Amino acid sequence: MSAYGSFPGARPRRLRTTPAVRRMVAETRLHPADLILPAFVREGVSEPVPISAMPGVVQHTRDTLRKAAVEARAAGVAGIMLFGVPEDSKKDALGTAGTDPDGILQVAIRDVRSEVGDDLVIMSDLCLDEYTDHGHCGVLDADGRVDNDATLERYAEMAQVQADAGVHMVGPSGMMDGQVGVIRDALDTIGKEDVSILAYTAKYSSAFYGPFREAVGSSLTGDRKTYQQDSANVRESLRELALDLDEGADIVMVKPAGPYLDVLAKIAESVSVPVAAYQISGEYSMVEAAAEKGWVDREKAILETLTGIKRAGADMILTYWATEVAHRL
Ligand code: PBG
Repeated sequence: MSAYGSFPGARPRRLRTTPAVRRMVAETRLHPADLILPAFVREGVSEPVPISAMPGVVQHTRDTLRKAAVEARAAGVAGIMLFGVPEDSKKDALGTAGTDPDGILQVAIRDVRSEVGDDLVIMSDLCLDEYTDHGHCGVLDADGRVDNDATLERYAEMAQVQADAGVHMVGPSGMMDGQVGVIRDALDTIGKEDVSILAYTAKYSSAFYGPFREAVGSSLTGDRKTYQQDSANVRESLRELALDLDEGADIVMVKPAGPYLDVLAKIAESVSVPVAAYQISGEYSMVEAAAEKGWVDREKAILETLTGIKRAGADMILTYWATEVAHRL
């Protein structure tokens, strides 16, 4: 007995006494194979172009992209998600460069596939915003609204050219209704039953995409609120989930990750397909900026964000830190 009352019968601190015991009882472990590296490749440049809003991330040349893929594979990273950045002169209202077999993304898919083969899962962003002169994820109707069904036809064609270029997994990120089903049909029609679909199931309209706009040289003015989800909603994500599964999604994803861990947890507890989370550009840049000012410990903060995302239920995480973290693990 202490002078002030009884001793506690339970002492959870016992299992926190040394690094070794803490490691033994850790409930969540990050592994390089949990990580997927998003990467940008820019057409027509001979040197990588730094992205000022994402310190440490660049728009790759075709050549440095190959090297980044090799480095990611060597570090044990599971996959690479490719984003194409076309020359400005190639952007148009329909996003034609996105379906050109010689468009930058298709060229990059072929480059990376020839470099790493099947050792790294090669994934591609399937969306029009990188290729449209208005910057929206779809084509517009006569009144300037994003036309869902006309966009689906463009996505079907994109899926086919990306598959022909050798992608293993497409990532439709435009949040059009019916996109997963249309893409599945388009792939199956050309005999690409083995190309899988990573569905952006719960993709929220987010301020944290800010740095990405620079990363892909986006022309967007305005927002994407008529197709991306409202951050106030979670039930709506379960509806999107049911639709994506019904349409044939192989993996479902929540994006952004950090501000939506509750959504991630809900989805993870209710599905039997793998669940991914995308730690997006703004989540990356916030930590980098605070670390640069000396306000947080960069390495610890990075691991803490990724552990939180995994703890919430992600089987895999897209993160711009993938290669660095894989090396450190
Ligand atoms: C759409 C797309 C976006 C991101 C991935 N795919 C931008 C958007 O929806 O506005 C954002 C990724 C990031 O911010 O890291 N093609």
